[in-house]
Amino acid sequence: MNAPWKVNPNGDRTPFAAYVCDETALDTLRPVVIELGWAPEKCNKGGLRNAIQSLSVSASPNILLVDLSESGDPLNDINSLAEVCEPGTIVIAMGQVNDVRLYRDLLASGIYDYLLKPLSANTLRDALTQAQASFNAPKANDPDAAHNHVSTAVVGMRGGVGASTLATSLSWYFASKKNLQTGLLDLDVHFGTGALALDLEPGRGLTDAIDNPSRIDGLFIERAMIRAHDNLSILSAEAPINAPLMTDGAAFLQLEEEFRQAFEMSVIDLPRSMLITYPHLLNEVNVVVVAVEMTLASARDAIRILSWLKSYAAHAVPIVVANKVQTGALEISKADFEASIERPIDFSIPFDQKTAANAAKLGQAFIEANATSKPASVIKALGERIIGASEEDAQGEDAPHAGKKSLLGSFDLKSLLAKKTKPVPATAE
Ligand SMILES: Nc1ncnc2c1ncn2[C@@H]1O[C@H](COP(=O)(O)OP(=O)(O)O)[C@@H](O)[C@H]1O
Ligand SMILES: [Mg+2]
Repeated sequence: MNAPWKVNPNGDRTPFAAYVCDETALDTLRPVVIELGWAPEKCNKGGLRNAIQSLSVSASPNILLVDLSESGDPLNDINSLAEVCEPGTIVIAMGQVNDVRLYRDLLASGIYDYLLKPLSANTLRDALTQAQASFNAPKANDPDAAHNHVSTAVVGMRGGVGASTLATSLSWYFASKKNLQTGLLDLDVHFGTGALALDLEPGRGLTDAIDNPSRIDGLFIERAMIRAHDNLSILSAEAPINAPLMTDGAAFLQLEEEFRQAFEMSVIDLPRSMLITYPHLLNEVNVVVVAVEMTLASARDAIRILSWLKSYAAHAVPIVVANKVQTGALEISKADFEASIERPIDFSIPFDQKTAANAAKLGQAFIEANATSKPASVIKALGERIIGASEEDAQGEDAPHAGKKSLLGSFDLKSLLAKKTKPVPATAE
């Protein structure tokens, strides 16, 4: 059940096995199994517990049908099954309990489908054919095509500087304009806006992941994430605000790992408080976008966070982005800001109320709502800088330190993405 893409398609696993509690169901099942070209001997008598016992000592089938009828605690037993089941197995459960909550919980724990007993041959045939199609479908992450991955964390120095705006816009840019498989992980668990900004329901995926880190695997990611675009999946939450975050952070690391497998680009909307509580979140991050406003408080926190990054995440390339910049109305000047953080601001995004309002109204990413606006062009340049694909583009007036050596010079993200088999289309506007 873990990471479906780790499946070896040429492996010698049996295509199908079933563990069913009653004879009636077995009698319905066997002819369908024969029809699908599988061995009827693989339809075993016995339920979930038998499945767990056998699979703990033998190879898992590609598709597994298990009967939950005799299980007192199906969710718990499914977890035990996950522990013995090999990666890639598609598990279909059946049972007598007609409860939509159980159904949703089962799906969240990685079960492909849940069939209600008594079963008809048609239902079984449909479910098994679909499972087979899904098993044979090209996996988003073929292990043979070892893909490259760039992970970007966006951290706002203060609330409201536009970190989430940048995270969604960058994700949108990578996915829709650069044709890169992108995952947006919104770690503002209670108040995240990753889904909201794109007019989507966050779903329960992230909360489920935090509650049950052991369930996080490729299949889970596939199911729990919501799609904003063919190439963009989002994992976000609106966790109940009467529930504090109870996690040691293992779920987040596991999510990052699964993102690395599943996507070419990961964008993490990382509230600064999370950075303090779970510093290891940056262990595998390649780029940290440090989002600031031209204010005193922002400068102070940028100094502290840049220094923290130097000590604890030296492998990550920081890119300082000033947002909501209003010429003539700055609390501190650019020169003073840069002097205090002892480095240049890499990108300056102007304040643009109209685009912000438009984005909110349309439920679109800031960058999409007004693609020809000045903020959009700077965010694109930032995206290009992250990809490393066209550093020259960042040398215009949008990049205040035009002509200076790229900060990514020593860290060539371009080469990380260069081995991509898929051509990256030019940004067409
Ligand atoms: N360049 C900008 N010009 C005008 N408004 C902006 C700009 N960038 C972001 N905003 C707006 O600022 C608000 C806060 O942005 P958000 O991304 O949620 O901040 P954060 O995640 O840092 O708290 C949002 O309403 C957003 O639309
Ligand atoms: Mg935010």
